[in-house]
Amino acid sequence: PLLAARCSILPRPAYIPNRIDDPSYVRIFDTTLRDGEQSPGATMTSVEKLAVAKQLARLGVDIIEAGFPASSPDDLDAVRSIAIEVGNNPADESGHVPVICGLARCNKKDIDAAWEAVRHAKRPRVHTFIATSEIHMKYKLRKSQEEVVKIASEMVAYARSLGCEDVEFSPEDAGREFLYHILEEVIKAGATTVNIPDTVGYTLPSEFGKLIADIKANTHGIENVIISTHCQNDLGLATANTLAGAYAGARQLEVTINGIGERAGNASLEEVVMAIKCRKELVGGLHTGINTKHIVRASKMVVEYTGLHVQPHKAIVGANAFAHESGIHQDGMLKYKGTYEIISPEDIGLARANESGIVLGKLSGRHALRSRLLEFGYDINGKELDDIFKRFKEVAEKKKHVTDDDIEALISDEIFQP
Ligand code: KIV
Repeated sequence: PLLAARCSILPRPAYIPNRIDDPSYVRIFDTTLRDGEQSPGATMTSVEKLAVAKQLARLGVDIIEAGFPASSPDDLDAVRSIAIEVGNNPADESGHVPVICGLARCNKKDIDAAWEAVRHAKRPRVHTFIATSEIHMKYKLRKSQEEVVKIASEMVAYARSLGCEDVEFSPEDAGREFLYHILEEVIKAGATTVNIPDTVGYTLPSEFGKLIADIKANTHGIENVIISTHCQNDLGLATANTLAGAYAGARQLEVTINGIGERAGNASLEEVVMAIKCRKELVGGLHTGINTKHIVRASKMVVEYTGLHVQPHKAIVGANAFAHESGIHQDGMLKYKGTYEIISPEDIGLARANESGIVLGKLSGRHALRSRLLEFGYDINGKELDDIFKRFKEVAEKKKHVTDDDIEALISDEIFQP
């Protein structure tokens, strides 16, 4: 698996709004700056948003959803500067320039604001959405199904009439039969991507995969657009649902850095991308254009700017994701890293705290301690090692982690004692 994860990035197909020439290429749509920013307390300044957008471009995301321009003049300005700066200049020598997208409800005022903000980009996109569940239509919109279909297709057509060639449509929370119908109508009106949100994070992977497969099989005109997923994490299944959607035919996946977003968050970019990279053969040979070496930096920036910390055991970017404490695991790691690591930390841009990835604690054995001492430059064996190990165990019983300072103190006591 370690070798599979190390394979290089395959070429990215040319950007055509409603078509991907390579059937196994999956677009990564990052919504850290829009849905992610909707996490309570996660607001970022325009300067911070621009810095994150630049890092997302370095990461190689295909589409950056930069904000919701109608929500405030500040957000409109932030999206516009991202469109100008990030949406026109390649982030690196690969020459890749991401699509810059703005969210809009299905009304002219929102669409005008989104277009005004994104139109400066080389590849602008407007993403418009409307509630389509029975409960939302009845109580929130007070509209019938046919009225909602009419508004949705008129607003997609309106966005196209402004000159926007790339329009995404999302039906929030729709039932199946209605879903096919509204998608057919917005495709006729000019939508290039149809996004299927699991707005309240309620579906299971088999169910969500089937939904995407059914949409693919039953919606007229679907072959002329890209199907996308947008999975919330209320049941902790956002990543699994997103992968099930990709397996069933979605070719755009909406994600956020560190999985931040409304309530329990969204599918996390790092989990989805690394799962596709590591388990390529089981997800139908799919690939993305993400340069995974920029993942850790992006994660740290988002933590710093939003103040939302990542739990230590978070997959891929958690502080413990590559730390090995139990004696059995440490022994395996010292013999061959592939025993307990399915990806290499260097692949996501993480420098190991130490060569072995070993964290010394009360479960660590002599072998692990000896190898750490070697990293400090001390080749200790026999009785000296027995003595240090005994005292190491005493320290480890009292502390959660034995730090480098503790190790140095043990060495000085043993080797430099008078
Ligand atoms: O969760 C949701 O339904 C959304 C849509 C706007 C895609 O964020």
